[in-house]
Amino acid sequence: MIRLIRPYITFDEVEADFRQMFVDGMFTRGQHVEGFRKEIAAYCGVPHAHLATSATTALSICLKLLGIGPGDEVVVSDFSFPATANVVEDLGARPVFADVSLDSYNMLPAALEARISERTKAVIFVDAFGNPTGLHDILAICRERGIPLIEDAACAIGSSERGIMVGSIADMTCFSFHPRKLLTTGEGGAITLCRDDWSAWFDVKLNHGASGMLGYGLEFVEQGYNYRLSEPQAIMGRVQLRKLDAIVAERNEIRQAYIDRLVGAGFIAQVRGADVVHNVQSLVFRVPSGVDRDALISRLREKGVETTIGTYSLSGTTYYRQRYDDVQSNAVRLQQETLTVPCYAAVAVDTVCTAILAGIAG
Ligand SMILES: Cc1ncc(COP(=O)(O)O)c(C=O)c1O
Repeated sequence: MIRLIRPYITFDEVEADFRQMFVDGMFTRGQHVEGFRKEIAAYCGVPHAHLATSATTALSICLKLLGIGPGDEVVVSDFSFPATANVVEDLGARPVFADVSLDSYNMLPAALEARISERTKAVIFVDAFGNPTGLHDILAICRERGIPLIEDAACAIGSSERGIMVGSIADMTCFSFHPRKLLTTGEGGAITLCRDDWSAWFDVKLNHGASGMLGYGLEFVEQGYNYRLSEPQAIMGRVQLRKLDAIVAERNEIRQAYIDRLVGAGFIAQVRGADVVHNVQSLVFRVPSGVDRDALISRLREKGVETTIGTYSLSGTTYYRQRYDDVQSNAVRLQQETLTVPCYAAVAVDTVCTAILAGIAG
């Protein structure tokens, strides 16, 4: 079976640090957690990074920082994983779905403008499959309206737009380190930001609400959470962060090899701006018109090639459709037409493409 993903980390790369961690008995809040946090901030070019248990908890805490709750609205990109909207819904606020471009798969500026109301308290832009195309245009609208922009960059570590790294563009940027991402710690996430006051708030909130020490122990000045990443996860993260730029370059070469074979047969590649570095977290194409995408996935599985859909129209999921009846057409179309193909160093692009081309022939 040609699998869809393969991690960019091997046991021998972490073995020495894992052994030392057992000797030291430091499984959380050790040197690697602190080191990883600083390295992420430096990589993104921002003063602050906070580690979290996932992109979901990272997004959730950002919304909490903004005080979002019942009666508020948050405009979210409609083509994403449900976590993007679930974190809004969880706080009793309403996710308002903005439709996306059929080319880049990212939030359309006109759709955002149309969905902003006096109840809008934040915008969540999603870098679809790691592609930040259009992020600065969305930022400009948010700046003009005085609305905070949270970037759901779950997939986008290592990408940039206009020469500026993802992680230093939006007001707060949230990353995921789930195994489908370029950098994985099993589960995990991070938030990057510039504002010192917000960073100090995260320091307290992400640490059970403790701000420092009293004579007998910790001083708890806030209600808080434990969303901390652990030491073994940080060891894994540091190894991959050092290789990240090389991984991005390699994935772009693989993408080009697929484009050379598939575009002539009617497949449409995800479009990125000329000023964008896209990390190709997932390599996604729209299938040629008339091709039954689901049947193609099944045929490929029978031939030993694992592929999957792109992602979801959030407004079209059973839950959000029944709750808000606010379905966005482009996102639904992308959910039906997109195909994710295997993309990693050793993947046999020719074999996969031959199977795909035979698959669309019936
Ligand atoms: C765009 C997007 N946002 C959020 C998430 C949730 O990330 P995590 O699994 O780290 O909570 C994902 C996961 O795939 C995602 O793709």
